[in-house]
Amino acid sequence: MAATPDTVKRFVSLGCSVAVERRAGVLSGHLDASYADQGATLVAVGDTNAWSQADVLLCVQSPALAHLNRLRQGALVVGMLSPYANEQLAMALQSGGLSAMAFELLPRTSRAQSADALSSQASIAGYKSVLLASSALDRYFPMLMTAAGTVQPAKVVVLGAGVAGLQAVATARRLGAVVYVSDIRPAVKEQVESLGARFIEPPEVVDEPSEAGGYAQQASDAFLAAQRQRLSDHLAGADVAICTAQVPGRCAPRLIDENMLDRMRPGAVVVDLAVAQGGNCVDTVASKTVDRKGVKLIGGNDLPCTVPNHASALYARNLLALLELTMKDGDFRLDLEDELIAGCLIAQNGRIRRGDVFTSRAN
Ligand code: NAI
Repeated sequence: MAATPDTVKRFVSLGCSVAVERRAGVLSGHLDASYADQGATLVAVGDTNAWSQADVLLCVQSPALAHLNRLRQGALVVGMLSPYANEQLAMALQSGGLSAMAFELLPRTSRAQSADALSSQASIAGYKSVLLASSALDRYFPMLMTAAGTVQPAKVVVLGAGVAGLQAVATARRLGAVVYVSDIRPAVKEQVESLGARFIEPPEVVDEPSEAGGYAQQASDAFLAAQRQRLSDHLAGADVAICTAQVPGRCAPRLIDENMLDRMRPGAVVVDLAVAQGGNCVDTVASKTVDRKGVKLIGGNDLPCTVPNHASALYARNLLALLELTMKDGDFRLDLEDELIAGCLIAQNGRIRRGDVFTSRAN
């Protein structure tokens, strides 16, 4: 949910009027009355009057593109709009004369942290992925000394040490697992080790991928092949693999192939957070658990939705923080001198600003 009663209260104190669709907050634990108590007007779902009067539409993902034409020209849409290679979205923004800010393109600077929705949601996904793995696993996570003998700790391999990966590491460590981590950015080694995990060094190949603006760049096929070889032995001895490796705007790197899965023991669990981007692991299916010769493959594409109260609380605060940057004298102003606004403003009054993103090919 894109607004909580707390953020509604803040928007109202900033001089905004806020309309909330009825029952929109129910699944995240907020009843209509708690929005009304903070000054929101409750409207019917899809109320065309409310849409056509809005200066700003707060959303989680983009509404159906056909519904964007309910907004008036010049209105601003803010959310996780999936702009990469999304020419349909570009056309809808153009034809409606709309402005839009996409969290996916917010620069990763320290000033942007309070508005960083990718991080707040990825952190939840990383946490929940480990809980799912631990409940699907046929073993304990921690080492235990019992009267019936010693139980060895679970071995967890985390692929990708961005926000989700690091939260997965921290959660698995708290449960007592031994954790190994792979990432293409050598800079994360220190962060991984400070959480008590062991870093699997990336392979040494000439065209090592770099990092730009806090986002990873795509690795070459040769690099990925060498990396898979290095990971294969680790996975053969692993109880759990948590896959979080991604490259923005591209298909996720394929890090676990058929042969590597064949080497994993029956009972082992793979949770693939990159499944919606093509998957780090072969054979994972979005929102499904697949049994592959005894190895459980969990498609973890929608994990923030399984922690809806906190996911909404953090996301709503991210939205508020981003919009506060645009508010001047009780009005929304899109100041292009501000690098955060300029970075994520994909369209302004129907003019497409990030044509490169809309037309980039996901491969
Ligand atoms: P992401 O979700 O785009 O990717 C996850 C991880 O996958 C990244 O660490 C990436 O290096 C890794 N990866 C890509 N290809 C891989 C491969 N072949 N094998 C293994 N790992 C691979 O990343 P996320 O979580 O959005 O964070 C990206 C970076 O931005 C991180 O360095 C993060 O710490 C940084 N960041 C900085 C912030 C700031 O305020 N300065 C805020 C949030 C993130």
